[in-house]
Amino acid sequence: PAPQGILHYLTHADLSKQQIYNLITLAIQHKYNVKYLDTKSGQPLLGKTLAIMFSKRSTRTRVATETAVTYLGGQPMFLGSQDIQLGVNESLLDTSKVVSSMVDGMMARVGSHSEIVTLAKYSTVPVINALSDKYHPTQILADLMTMHEIFGPQPKDDSSYVAHLTHPQETLPGLKVAWVGDGNNILHSMLVTFPKIGVHLSVATPKGYSPAEDVVKIAKHEAAKTNTEISFTHDPKVAVNNADVIVTDTWVSMGQESEKAKRLKDFEGYQITSSLAKEGGAKKNWKFLHCLPRKQEEVSDEVFYSPISHVFQEAENRKWTILAVLDALLVKKSFD
Ligand code: CP
Ligand code: NVA
Repeated sequence: PAPQGILHYLTHADLSKQQIYNLITLAIQHKYNVKYLDTKSGQPLLGKTLAIMFSKRSTRTRVATETAVTYLGGQPMFLGSQDIQLGVNESLLDTSKVVSSMVDGMMARVGSHSEIVTLAKYSTVPVINALSDKYHPTQILADLMTMHEIFGPQPKDDSSYVAHLTHPQETLPGLKVAWVGDGNNILHSMLVTFPKIGVHLSVATPKGYSPAEDVVKIAKHEAAKTNTEISFTHDPKVAVNNADVIVTDTWVSMGQESEKAKRLKDFEGYQITSSLAKEGGAKKNWKFLHCLPRKQEEVSDEVFYSPISHVFQEAENRKWTILAVLDALLVKKSFD
């Protein structure tokens, strides 16, 4: 039988509004403590190990996780696809039982979302989703934290950090995010998160690239409960209307490389440019986010490298938000 009562972090569809806000608040506190007060962690994970099992490439998620585990005094154990039998040559069930019997937590980057669900089902320790083909929850925490930093209280200079002075609950609800791109794992994660916490979301995807129906159903259900607006279109200009934030991602996710030529053609007209934002009627002060890695076809250099763009701040916030998830799951053992 599957071990019961172990806390996992697989998708925000499993978390309450308050639990999502708790993670963002914790991340902001960690950033303030570590970066600005140089606070030491007390090494709560001393002698503990997090297995980081990735069957796909990663820069941000891996560096964020390894440095966050080290900060907490633990040992990150990176296991790439060439190193272990993650569903290759050995079942995920067996892998989960074996690895979880020796470590204190497992993080995995997988292909099909069912793989992370299987790992969690048979694990005796908490499991964190570091990206599946369906969801990428840690990314969305970083996006929300960055939006709080952008739209919350502003520091007078670079040496101060004032995001900790207000709660994200006070700055995020009511903001409008426009997604212009693929109906992929990042969009799915936004769909199960934003309506729950009161962030409006308008989505433009090319025909044939809409988000999964079961995810849209969850989003609509949450939006009705919180009175949040979500809308879907195939016209990028319609989506960006009145947006505070415009977001996109690669048009060719990991595992879709063979579809590249078709996708580049199908996504014509979806590049984020300042003229698209202007013609569509985005807010005057709109901002740009992207989970990275980025290719030029989905966003022009003129936007990507401008002050409108907060992508590198968003990338750094992967570390603080993953630190918050590790703290909640492995130290506090609670999202509440
Ligand atoms: N955004 C993100 O997950 O980046 P990596 O694939 O580099 O980890
Ligand atoms: N949608 C992208 C996100 C990368 C962080 C992918 O799955 O490859």
